[in-house]
Amino acid sequence: MKKFAKLSQAKYDKKAPKYDKTIDGHYTAKFKRKLLEAITVSDGEKVLDVGCGNGTLICAISRKAKIHAYGVDISPKMIDECRARHPHIDFQVSVADELPFADNELDVVTMCCVLHHLDEPQNFFAEARRVLKTGGRLIVSDPWYPPPFKQFTEWIVFPLHNAGDKQLFTHKEFRDFFVENDLPVTETYYRGNVQTIMAKKS
Ligand SMILES: C[S@@+](CC[C@H](N)C(=O)[O-])C[C@H]1O[C@@H](n2cnc3c(N)ncnc32)[C@H](O)[C@@H]1O
Repeated sequence: MKKFAKLSQAKYDKKAPKYDKTIDGHYTAKFKRKLLEAITVSDGEKVLDVGCGNGTLICAISRKAKIHAYGVDISPKMIDECRARHPHIDFQVSVADELPFADNELDVVTMCCVLHHLDEPQNFFAEARRVLKTGGRLIVSDPWYPPPFKQFTEWIVFPLHNAGDKQLFTHKEFRDFFVENDLPVTETYYRGNVQTIMAKKS
């Protein structure tokens, strides 16, 4: 397993039973709320949340329509929590860049506050493109900070947190992942430190 993946798995296995009460649980709540505002889903669609944590986001999405809901996370303990809390959703342990789905299988892929954990974030976008149907949507939300807060977070906060947080992305770097992977951007939301981009596979 790669360096940041290993660190993430170890830390989130420990956080899993009390995730909602941890700093991450509180910090990510705003991102999940905004992603939920932005997303639309329809009956019958297959929707996957990558790095699903304890399943809160995919469960909330599953209340919007009669979807087939899936979640994957690198942490087996997080997936145990997901299965106990949301038995109607299909959860699996998986890394973000090798998803256990066939080509062109899914209508929607979401990712919330996970991108900055990935050793090779560009590989996730190629993988999301592979599993999405033509016309399928990808929605990714991740933290954004202007300098010098970006550097402070990367150099001081991330090492102290020791949870496999690797790097933060500028608005341009974030958008470039979509463009470089042939995922045309349909909407962007930059609100405070929440950056969210929605794209449609053509
Ligand atoms: C900050 S938490 C966010 C969890 C959830 N998305 C939320 O918003 O509450 C980051 C999550 O990403 C997962 N994760 C980290 N690296 C991963 C990887 N390479 N593949 C899949 N999941 C990963 C962690 O186990 C953890 O559950």
